[in-house]
Amino acid sequence: MGVCMAIFKLPDDFLLGTVTSSVQIEGGDTGNTWYQWAKDGHIVDNSSPFTACDHWNKVEEDTRILKSLHVQTHRMSLEWSRLEPAPGQFSAAALQHYREEIQRLLDENIEPLVTLHHFSEPVWFQEAGGWQREGNAQYFIAYVRYVVENLGDLVCEWVTFNEPNVYTLFGYEIGSFPPGIRNLRISRQVKAELIKTHVHLYTLIHQIRRDRQFPGRTRVGAAMHLRVFDGLTFFGKMVARLADHIFNELCLAGMTTGRLKFPLPGWPSSHKKGRYADFLGINYYTRNIVEFAWDPRLYFYRWLNDKSLDKSDLGWDIYPQGIYRVCKKYYSRYKLPIYITENGISDKHDNRRPDYLVRHLAWLAKAVSAGIKVERYYHWTLMDNFEWLEGETAKFGLYHCNFRTQERTARKSAELFRAVCMTKEFTAEIGG
Ligand code: FCB
Repeated sequence: MGVCMAIFKLPDDFLLGTVTSSVQIEGGDTGNTWYQWAKDGHIVDNSSPFTACDHWNKVEEDTRILKSLHVQTHRMSLEWSRLEPAPGQFSAAALQHYREEIQRLLDENIEPLVTLHHFSEPVWFQEAGGWQREGNAQYFIAYVRYVVENLGDLVCEWVTFNEPNVYTLFGYEIGSFPPGIRNLRISRQVKAELIKTHVHLYTLIHQIRRDRQFPGRTRVGAAMHLRVFDGLTFFGKMVARLADHIFNELCLAGMTTGRLKFPLPGWPSSHKKGRYADFLGINYYTRNIVEFAWDPRLYFYRWLNDKSLDKSDLGWDIYPQGIYRVCKKYYSRYKLPIYITENGISDKHDNRRPDYLVRHLAWLAKAVSAGIKVERYYHWTLMDNFEWLEGETAKFGLYHCNFRTQERTARKSAELFRAVCMTKEFTAEIGG
């Protein structure tokens, strides 16, 4: 008989779930910036979010899958262009659709965590000048007011922005995401604008749910893409700190405390610093080794791989310990409960995903034992979907999705995740 060894055990009140985003799975919407971006030929395989997983018509089936996985929570996003197809004109049909989708989750005891901005926007918002135009945040604020007034009775927990650092890096610095701008000055302004908008929304969402006496404890936060940066040489270590400041810190500190750190343009002097997050949402995927480079467009550093580590299909280093390191660092700084709002791997053949899952969860269990308040884990993602620039080529799903027949098929990782969701632990049999 072999010996059963607990690889990890998470507390009973730890919640596990999956995460998706609207434009990546729904299909059928033509009013968003990514539909347009795909039409303009920016996607590696020429696919379009118009196809995606047809989730818009498969909510019932997909909720059944979530139920079968025994997830306790699910993070999803709402498509702004569906809910507000023209400025100030809201779609009652889209609202009803999302109410029904969320009600289905609640009926299965799956707690929704709802994202308000996950990379995509209505084309009309960009045509009006997007975030780069002063005053346009008002459009988004009015939209969020509508959403929370009309869905806030069902949803207690909200993510304002998904990965504002990635959104601004690709959308406004590198120019590979819409709106395709390459301008550091504009990017700084947009970052500051997103932070100010988040601070505003934090108060607004709390206020609406309180005034309307909606049930449940309101929690509002942002989902940050946090990467570990390590330097190997003396200069490497120095630029690792710079990378950390620019990529991780600016948006994280901004959306948590309202502080606009250098080099972001400042607040009017009347602004009060405070706490504008009820949880720290962390999207953790990988680490980079950084090295000094003489190229100001790269902020004087390059992101490199560690040759000794296994890689995902996209060539990202698999570095599970990093999830522990970011939780430890930011918990000790902010003392806020942590939700791992995304973690996952592109792995078409599902060879590395089971190990990836187990090792990241084991480090989280270690964090919990060390007194770090990690409360939730959301796996990216439920099924293969439209993966932005990679289109249909990157396979992050617990389920394989056939984009032509729309058939969903469980990978072996789905079985593993189901077992973990049910027992909150993982044991391995050692010996024969
Ligand atoms: C994150 C995004 C998510 C998905 C994963 C792989 O940066 O938030 O939509 O693309 O990466």
